Amino acid sequence: MNAASEGKAVPFRILVVDDDADSREVIQAHLEDEGYRVRTCPGVPQALQALAQDTFDVIITDLRMPRANGLELIRHVRQNQQDVEIMMVTGYPSIEGAVEAVKSGAEHYLAKPFTDAELLTAVRAVIEKLVRKRMVRSENVAGRTYGIIGESAAMQKVFKLIAKACQSNANVHISGESGTGKELVARAVHYAGPRRSAPFVSVNCTAIPESLIESELFGHAKGAFTGAGEARTGFFQIAHGGTLFLDEIGDASLSMQGKLLRAIQDKTIYKVGSSRPIQVDTRLICATNKDLLQLIKKGLFREDLYYRINVIDITVPSLRERGADIFLLVSHFHAKFAKDLGRKVPAFSDEVLRQMMAYHWPGNVRELENLVQKLVLVAEGDTIMPTDLPSAMRFSAAGSRRLDRSLAEMESEYVHDVLASVDGNKTRAAAILKIDRKTLREKLK
Ligand SMILES: Nc1ncnc2c1ncn2[C@@H]1O[C@H](COP(=O)(O)OP(=O)(O)OP(=O)(O)O)[C@@H](O)[C@H]1O
Ligand SMILES: [Mg+2]
Repeated sequence: MNAASEGKAVPFRILVVDDDADSREVIQAHLEDEGYRVRTCPGVPQALQALAQDTFDVIITDLRMPRANGLELIRHVRQNQQDVEIMMVTGYPSIEGAVEAVKSGAEHYLAKPFTDAELLTAVRAVIEKLVRKRMVRSENVAGRTYGIIGESAAMQKVFKLIAKACQSNANVHISGESGTGKELVARAVHYAGPRRSAPFVSVNCTAIPESLIESELFGHAKGAFTGAGEARTGFFQIAHGGTLFLDEIGDASLSMQGKLLRAIQDKTIYKVGSSRPIQVDTRLICATNKDLLQLIKKGLFREDLYYRINVIDITVPSLRERGADIFLLVSHFHAKFAKDLGRKVPAFSDEVLRQMMAYHWPGNVRELENLVQKLVLVAEGDTIMPTDLPSAMRFSAAGSRRLDRSLAEMESEYVHDVLASVDGNKTRAAAILKIDRKTLREKLK
């Protein structure tokens, strides 16, 4: 499995459902000895609750239990979640029982009484099957865009890096201007990788006051400080087995950076007010729209931390570098808002699209998304016209500010900008400019 290829493997999570307490305990003990992470439940209602709170790789359930039986649990799981293997255990072995278990979606069947060795062999076979299934799925992931819209060359690079990041446990640093989709990329790395069944915890370093951040990240012991009435689990520990996304890492204070570095190096954290080490296997994905190298030069960011978090470096391009993606994003958001509103919404005129291409987009995709939403809501008639655009946009189209150039210079620059914006595709550039390809070729000369 991919998770094992770099660093420690993520333990598989097993949910054991059995009304018999002795049975639960014995199974749990054996599975934990094997390195699996185990949670037990005495019945179907509790299991449903556990499934709502947590994700599991394998469910081992008893068939006959008071209140609701194992088949009901299996049906529920199959209706709601696919990425889990189910093993049915029963003390009343019968052909019918087995047939029914398999029909309802349990792929595996184990008859009681079983020896420890039989249990472990069965569970290993189940895990092996799960891993094979997931590997097939992650191979299909190559060439995927993870729900992120974009076809530009700049985004193809990002998709390749996401695929690479999915295949390892290395820490990832995502940089890019505000609103370029950094969080979207972080989620893609988590949800398309082997940690997907463990939590993705997102923390914005600027949103938490300095005095609280340590206890938020690492947790605190009961009574650690005034107001710490109850013990608290920190985000690092909650994300164990999964991913901790630290947004705006460039804004973390130097003292925070020191604590982060220790946690990463030792894979160990200490709750505030406690000296008991807690082992964590948490992958870090950090994001920032600041230039960390610049911050290092100014002494505001630790260089040693930088190298720890920056093993895989993904730079998300600005909208200006993404050319024809602007059209794709406009039509994506247009369709999305039409669907949300449940009605046909006005279309974009070519002229509006042209002005959007020329605009500088300081707020990137987020700004584009907001603008599309606004235009769709306020435009009258069936077409969105240039007069519907905010005035700041109409007059700030790239290049229109300088007033010292000839028409020929302006034209040449505009033609080149349009061409660059469609990744050099002359047919598309000619279509935007409303000239034929031959004229375009001449202008380019
Ligand atoms: N390629 C894309 N396809 C579809 N939606 C996108 C894309 N990129 C960004 N978005 C959308 O744009 C918005 C901003 O994205 P996101 O929050 O990931 O940006 P960010 O880089 O983290 O911004 P900030 O620096 O402000 O935190 C979100 O609503 C996101 O869904
Ligand atoms: Mg963000």
